[in-house]
Amino acid sequence: MDEKKTIFSGIQPSGELTLGSYLGAIKNWVELADTYNTYYCIVDMHAITVRQDPAQLRRRAVSQIAQYIACGLDPKDNVIFIQSHVPEHAQLAWVLDCYTMFGELSRMTQFKDKSAKNADNINAGLFTYPALMAADILLYQADLVPVGEDQKQHVELTRDIAHRFNTIYGDVFTMPEPFIPKTGARIMSLTTPENKMSKSDKDPGGCIYLLEKPEDILRSFKRAVTDSDTVVRFDPENKKGVSNLMTIYSAATGKTMEEIENEFVGKGYGDFKLAVGEAVVEQLRPIREKTEDLLKNKDYLVSVYRDGAERASHAAYKTLRKVYKKIGFPEK
Ligand code: TRP
Repeated sequence: MDEKKTIFSGIQPSGELTLGSYLGAIKNWVELADTYNTYYCIVDMHAITVRQDPAQLRRRAVSQIAQYIACGLDPKDNVIFIQSHVPEHAQLAWVLDCYTMFGELSRMTQFKDKSAKNADNINAGLFTYPALMAADILLYQADLVPVGEDQKQHVELTRDIAHRFNTIYGDVFTMPEPFIPKTGARIMSLTTPENKMSKSDKDPGGCIYLLEKPEDILRSFKRAVTDSDTVVRFDPENKKGVSNLMTIYSAATGKTMEEIENEFVGKGYGDFKLAVGEAVVEQLRPIREKTEDLLKNKDYLVSVYRDGAERASHAAYKTLRKVYKKIGFPEK
């Protein structure tokens, strides 16, 4: 009997991975493999709810696999796979569509935001996106779902869908919970520190990409927004920009906020921003180099995602069969 709990998470290949996704998510995933069964999915089916360039989408999905490995996720200890390779996601999503209410989907804040941003393409997939996400999670009977604040509503809806299904058919699905790792840092945009650092940030200087060149990283940190004060002090209410830079510096160096405050007593913001930029460059350098190496070895990457899809399918097929049986589809 396998006593380990299961973790599932996904990131869309709709843009390049960012320092925010690394410090806020992937870096923390690395330690989870000892304690949990872990599934990390590249959700390309979610990505197409917004128009994607086909060549870019394909390249990003494969590059994301390489970046996960370069960040320290060992494909032996973690199931790393691409969503469209495991057809059970689409199959369960359809079933769950029939157990998800129009009213529930209409209340999703991400749907409202994305419809406002893509007014010319409010497609049905954008609307039913949370049911596909519920399928991702429930297929693997995940106990814990590491997500940012913005995805908590979708995990709550997943629980409502699972509860509704279980009430009718008995205990089919494990009830998942959002999981915010203790050490997970919430990284904000460098130019608008009120907003989360996002790959879809309109201002390219606000976001640092995992594979960015050192000189570009340093330039973005040099231009990062601070305040009219001159003191490096952690105060996320009143000093959003500085506090965000401190969070990044702390995550990259392991220093506490107090140590950082002491380090920069009597120094200007210029010195501080340079130090943060350099720390990030050093943190990302081995990841970029490892990714570049891995990308030269396509056969290896293909073998990783094929193996991942096979292991994922094994678990997903089991759940889907159970669901089909419960709802009354004849066995084939
Ligand atoms: N919707 C998530 C996001 O945009 C990505 C995602 C898809 C996901 N399926 C998931 C996250 C399942 C966690 C679990 O960030």
